Amino acid sequence: MAIAIQPARPADAADIDHVLTTCFPRPAEAKLVRQLAIDGELVLVLIARDEATNAVQGLVAISRMDVAIGGDPAPAVALAPLAVLPDHRGGGVAEALVTAAIDHMRRAGALLMFVLGEPGFYQRFGFTTDAAQGFDSPYAGPFFMALELQGGLPCGPRGVAHHAEAFAALAQGA
Ligand SMILES: CC(C)(COP(=O)(O)OP(=O)(O)OC[C@H]1O[C@@H](n2cnc3c(N)ncnc32)[C@H](O)[C@@H]1OP(=O)(O)O)[C@@H](O)C(=O)NCCC(=O)NCCS
Repeated sequence: MAIAIQPARPADAADIDHVLTTCFPRPAEAKLVRQLAIDGELVLVLIARDEATNAVQGLVAISRMDVAIGGDPAPAVALAPLAVLPDHRGGGVAEALVTAAIDHMRRAGALLMFVLGEPGFYQRFGFTTDAAQGFDSPYAGPFFMALELQGGLPCGPRGVAHHAEAFAALAQGA
């Protein structure tokens, strides 16, 4: 079954809510995406649909981060959340969404994409803990990974790698 991946439009709001409230055991992820949109921090939401039926299968959200390298701001984004409806899992939908998100953000000129997730899943796209090393983040650790989108980074010490403010509520389990 072919998957169509498209940037979300305003008419997709109910599908976005449906995917997030179904895929996560608490409402925090749905609230996160809404708050990111309200705060103007949401860069992109990609929606995966069945090409034949147009039924929603999953989504990935990309938000702006505050990142510094060598004392200068570096254009960087966070990939989160990623969600695929239970009936559509195991068929490569998540992989297609992450690949499309990387492609979009590379073309948009972002330097870095950060994720907080399972290394076993994200390493296949090139995310490494090494690339996230040295950045100042409350999420720093074995699950905090980054991907260099333009094949290199400016020289200089790593500074902050702050997620948008809406993520703070997620960390508190809201
Ligand atoms: C995680 C999730 C997005 C995966 O969706 P999916 O469409 O089934 O994933 P894919 O079919 O593209 O999986 C690709 C591969 O990743 C693997 N994978 C999936 N979830 C994984 C995880 N949590 N850890 C490690 N590997 C994982 C799959 O086994 C598959 O491996 P394979 O290609 O070697 O067989 C989906 O299970 C989901 O929505 N879960 C609930 C929400 C969630 O936990 N989101 C992630 C954190 S934001």
